[in-house]
Amino acid sequence: MTSIKYNTSLKEYNTFGIDVPTKCLIEYDTLDQLEEILIEKDKYPTPILHVGSGSNLLFSKPYVGTILHSRILGIKEIARDDETVTLRVGAGVLWDDLVSYCVDNHLYGAENLSNIPGEVGASVVQNIGAYGVEVSQLVRRVQTYSLDTAQVRYWTNEECNYGYRNSIFKNPEIRGHYIVTYVDYRFSLLHRVTLEYGAIKSQLQSMNCSDVKEITLSLIRQAIIAIRKKKLPDPKELGNAGSFFVNPIVSEEKYQSLLSRYPSMPSYRIDDLRVKIPAGWMIEQIGWKGKSMGNVAVHKDQALVLINLGGASAQEIIELYQYLIKKVEEKFGIIIYPEVNII
Ligand code: EPU
Repeated sequence: MTSIKYNTSLKEYNTFGIDVPTKCLIEYDTLDQLEEILIEKDKYPTPILHVGSGSNLLFSKPYVGTILHSRILGIKEIARDDETVTLRVGAGVLWDDLVSYCVDNHLYGAENLSNIPGEVGASVVQNIGAYGVEVSQLVRRVQTYSLDTAQVRYWTNEECNYGYRNSIFKNPEIRGHYIVTYVDYRFSLLHRVTLEYGAIKSQLQSMNCSDVKEITLSLIRQAIIAIRKKKLPDPKELGNAGSFFVNPIVSEEKYQSLLSRYPSMPSYRIDDLRVKIPAGWMIEQIGWKGKSMGNVAVHKDQALVLINLGGASAQEIIELYQYLIKKVEEKFGIIIYPEVNII
C-alpha cells in the first residue's frame, strides 16, 4: 500500500543519520501505485525527489517538497541460455540481497560488489563499482517512469552512457525526470572471476584459498566482505555515505608531474591520456586521515569516507568536506568533487 507521511524525519532515509524533516514522504510498492502518485502529483508539495536508501545523500536543510521512495521488490529470471541468466529486479531490492541471491544461485558477475549499501534503483544511476567491477558490466536494460508524463521508458546499456560513477541519469537534463522501476541484469553461468584488484588475492590466501579453479562465488563474497569491513565503517554504527569524494581523473601530463614529486603515489590508468588518482591517498597526504572537526571525522582506515561521530549536523559535514577540497587543491593542484549528492 502507498504510505504517505507529512512533516516526518528523514533520519532513516540517509546513511549519514542526519535528522532533517521533509514536508512529505511517499513510499510505494507497485508500478500501479507509482503511476497513481505521478498522475496526481500536483496534490503533493514540490519539488519531488526520488531517493533510494540514502547511502549517497546529504540533506543539508529541511526538505520543502516530497521525497519518493520505491519499495518495488522481486528478483525474477526472465531469460537463460547456455552461458547467461538475465534477472529482472525491482528498484527497491537491496543491492546486496541481489548479490547474495546471485552467489546462492551460482551466477557470476556481482560478487565483487558484495556489501555495497544501497538499492538496485540507485545502482544503475550511480554505476556502483568496487574491486575492478562496475555494475554497468551487468546492466542490460533499465525500466523507468517519467515524472513528467507518467509514461514508461526503457534504456539499453548503451543508452545509459556509463562512465566511472556516471550515467545518463546524472545528466542535468535527465536527472530528476525519470524514476528507475526495474532493472534487467545479465550474469554469467561460467566460472569468470575478477581477482586482480588490490587485496582480493591476499585476502583469499589468508582464507587458505589460492587455487583460482577452486575459488567459489561464496569465497569471493566472503573475501570482499572481509576487505570492506576492515576499511569501511558500517553506517548502522557510524553514519557515513561510503566514499565521500569521486577519485579525480587527471591528464597524463599532470600525472607525470605529480609522480615526479610523489614517486609512491597510487594510480589507475584509464587510457593513454588519463589517469585516476585516489582521493583517499591525497587526503591522507594532507594529514587529515583519522582527524575530526566537531562531530565529523575523516575515517581512520579510509580517508575517502567522512563519518558522523554522533549528532553531526549537515553543516558540519559540509564545512569539513569544503576544507578538504581546499587543502587538497593547495597541495596537489587538483580539485576533488563529492560523490555524495548534497540536497
Ligand atoms: N589510499 C590511501 N589512503 C586512504 C585510502 C586509500 O593511501 O586513506 C590508497 C590505497 O592504499 C590504494 C588507493 O588509495 O592504493 C585506492 O584505495 P581503495 O582501494 O581503498 O579504493 P578507493 O579508490 O579509495 C574506490 C571506490 C570504493 C570501492 C574501492 C574498492 C570510489 C569513489 N570509491 O575507493 O567505493 O569500494 O575503490 O574498489 O571510486 C563507494 O563508492 O562508496 C566505495 C566505497
